[in-house]
Amino acid sequence: MAATRLLCLFNTKAAGSTKTLARSGWSVCFRRNVSSSPSRLQGCMSAWVIDQYGTNGSLRFTEEITVPTVSSPSEVMIQVHAASLNPLDISMRGGYGAKVLKLRRDPMSVMGSDSEFPLILGRDVSGVVVDCGSEVTHFSPGDEVWAAVPPWKQGSLAEFVTLTEYEVSHKPKSLSHTEAASIPYVANTALSALVNAGGLCRDSSSDKRVLITGGSGGVGTFSIQLLKAWGAHVTVTCSQNAEGLVRGLGADEVVDYTAGDAAEQLEMMDKFDVILDSVGGETEQWAMTMLKPWSGAKYVTLVTPLLLNTDSMGLLDGAFHAGFTLQSKAIQNMISSGVFYRWGFYAPDGPALDEVSKLVDAGKILPVVEAQFPFTQVPQAFQKLEEGHARGKTVVRVAEEDDRLAEDLVQNSHTETADWEQAAQETAKQK
Ligand SMILES: NC(=O)c1ccc[n+]([C@@H]2O[C@H](COP(=O)([O-])OP(=O)(O)OC[C@H]3O[C@@H](n4cnc5c(N)ncnc54)[C@H](OP(=O)(O)O)[C@@H]3O)[C@@H](O)[C@H]2O)c1
Repeated sequence: MAATRLLCLFNTKAAGSTKTLARSGWSVCFRRNVSSSPSRLQGCMSAWVIDQYGTNGSLRFTEEITVPTVSSPSEVMIQVHAASLNPLDISMRGGYGAKVLKLRRDPMSVMGSDSEFPLILGRDVSGVVVDCGSEVTHFSPGDEVWAAVPPWKQGSLAEFVTLTEYEVSHKPKSLSHTEAASIPYVANTALSALVNAGGLCRDSSSDKRVLITGGSGGVGTFSIQLLKAWGAHVTVTCSQNAEGLVRGLGADEVVDYTAGDAAEQLEMMDKFDVILDSVGGETEQWAMTMLKPWSGAKYVTLVTPLLLNTDSMGLLDGAFHAGFTLQSKAIQNMISSGVFYRWGFYAPDGPALDEVSKLVDAGKILPVVEAQFPFTQVPQAFQKLEEGHARGKTVVRVAEEDDRLAEDLVQNSHTETADWEQAAQETAKQK
């Protein structure tokens, strides 16, 4: 695990060779996949799909999924080099959000029409553009891109994915595809939550105190770095064994929630302007009291009951119930202590990823890849994520050249594993 994490935390060191290898590998892979593969000639691709909701056993590898060709002028077709997994993939595998997402995919589904199966999971993609619609202006075939695939679209655990131009961004030049795939979904989520719901931005964060709960996971490790790049003071809750990681990424203060009551420890500190809660549950009970009262402070939780409600109660009742819950909590907290209570959601946003790309290439945001798996081992990747205790991201290498590159880099990095936290801390200091 440490070796794979090192691969990404030391990406700057490996960037030169990464770029060269990835580019030469791309052309080989592109020719192989688009021109010579028999399945491609028949318009089919490889993918991991589910044919019904369930556990890991429902994941099925197939080479007979229709290639998602460009079907509207604003679409971009991407050959996937790497994908990554998020907790949402595990939830969606089990049917989470099925009613809303199915409706979003196909509004006619309320009439009981087409099934969503076979369904492809996987929300992050780093890859290469292979085709563009006639109105696409920002991308051309051959461009290296990254994106977070909306959950109402077919996912990235496949050879190809098709998205609208707005959802896609040019990938950071300093990252390999494996590294890049670890960022888009958590980045779009964190930016949506911190900017739209939390009211923060690059120019207004330097005097803000922000608390991130669950700082060691995918969203947390990205958010710490983004907020530090924006100049905020960042406090994090995490397990004791993740302290080195989050401090290395720039966290100013760390609360070990396993060492006793996190709320008691946080009460000793100054109050916060914004709380980004990626843990939910009991955290919500005490977090509101940690905010500065009557000063515009905001609590933003990523753990919301919206889709659980629509799954269990149906679209209308579920949405109404969730809306009522949100409004009553918002009013209650505003009246009692003058703090805003909000829900944060992932939102597809290619231009936001353009900004993240600049921060990555400037060395201000590092990818945190905890584990990586080849495309043949997608069920094992799900199992890893399902075990919990994430320290950053789990990535799936979809294209062969990234497999070889990763092996090379991991081999090179084996000797340096003991130093990775120190290196990350030095990088953070430089930031
Ligand atoms: N609303 C949305 O659109 C949206 C979008 C993205 C994510 N999310 C949700 O946001 C949450 C976080 O996502 P993620 O991708 O960061 O998940 P993740 O990668 O699985 O990370 C979760 C992290 O939280 C830590 N943790 C668990 N219990 C904790 C506690 N009580 N206090 C502090 N840390 C704790 C875990 O490590 P340890 O267990 O070892 O402490 C782990 O590092 C998930 O529930 C996800 O579903 C929502």
